[in-house]
Amino acid sequence: MDSLEQLVASAVQDFMAAQDDAAALENAKAKYLGKTGQITELMKGLGKLDPEQRKAQGALINAAKGQIEAALTARRDALADAQMQTRLNAEAIDVSLPGRGRAGGGLHPVMRTWERVEEIFRSIGFDVADGPEIENDWTNFTALNSPENHPARSMQDTFYIEGDDSDGKPLLLRTHTSPMQVRYARSHTPPIKVIAPGRTYRVDSDATHSPMFHQVEGLWIAEDISFADLKGVYLNFVKAFFETDDLQVRFRPSYFPFTEPSAEIDIAFGSGPLKGRWLEVSGSGQVHPSVVRNFGLDPERFIGFAFGSGLERLTMLRYGISDLRLFYEGDLRFLKQFN
Ligand code: FA5
Ligand code: MG
Repeated sequence: MDSLEQLVASAVQDFMAAQDDAAALENAKAKYLGKTGQITELMKGLGKLDPEQRKAQGALINAAKGQIEAALTARRDALADAQMQTRLNAEAIDVSLPGRGRAGGGLHPVMRTWERVEEIFRSIGFDVADGPEIENDWTNFTALNSPENHPARSMQDTFYIEGDDSDGKPLLLRTHTSPMQVRYARSHTPPIKVIAPGRTYRVDSDATHSPMFHQVEGLWIAEDISFADLKGVYLNFVKAFFETDDLQVRFRPSYFPFTEPSAEIDIAFGSGPLKGRWLEVSGSGQVHPSVVRNFGLDPERFIGFAFGSGLERLTMLRYGISDLRLFYEGDLRFLKQFN
């Protein structure tokens, strides 16, 4: 029957026209299958027919109703699928994107140097010691042969702390790690073989000087340790540290109140804008007999060497960095290059 076929066709069309909102589809359904829907109305009309016709017509209407219901279900499923797909697309996770969590931190280049220095000296039997950054002036200067008003003190101007320590000694921020020679030697018995890395402070500021910087002190005291041992140990250290034998290193005669003879150790840049230029990395020398006495040891019997090297300077040379202030500006673009 034409009109039933048209009815089914028009229902299918209406269902297809219903887009993503469920109400449109339900309205279309009501139009055909609802209480006053067209199929329902046709069913109601069956009562007026005689039994034979009612049966035949009823079967046709039921078949049409079945087709409309099937079309409705199919459209519902299709819309639900489409909706799910839209949602999946919207919520898609790109597993290849970098995570949003905190990136892992990294060691500051100067700390890397600190760790390497410890590792190298430990491997040749040096102990590693730690000491106070707030020091008294006896240990920082006097015990190291720089009595009050000695001109050598003015080479290391520093920051003084108000008040004295419990023995009445003035307090200051240590200007070098050398007071650790005294602290360690007074609390250990020879042979003494130690490094003491740590922070140090001076009234200094330029491309190769920072008001806060790091040194590593080295001290080897026994009955037979000479300046030749200093050279051997230090050259071994820098070769291990820079991972090359191809280094320009020089021992330049110098003066420190606490060593005699004394030398500054310079190394030439092997890379970077200052390639070929010398940079002082360390003071060093044979420990002065008066200082050995301040260790509580007999200078006639015990002898040895000490050095104090700048960790920033070693780091500058290792990476070819021409200005040490870069280490302390906190610029991540600079710092990230080392991790
Ligand atoms: C000293 O500090 C001596 N105590 C070294 C020493 C130890 C000599 C044991 C003999 C025996 P000097 O002032 O030269 O010496 O400093 C040693 C090293 O620390 C320098 O070579 C340099 O590498 C580093 N240094 C010094 N001042 C600064 C600073 N302001 N910023 C960065 N590095 C510095
Ligand atoms: Mg110096």
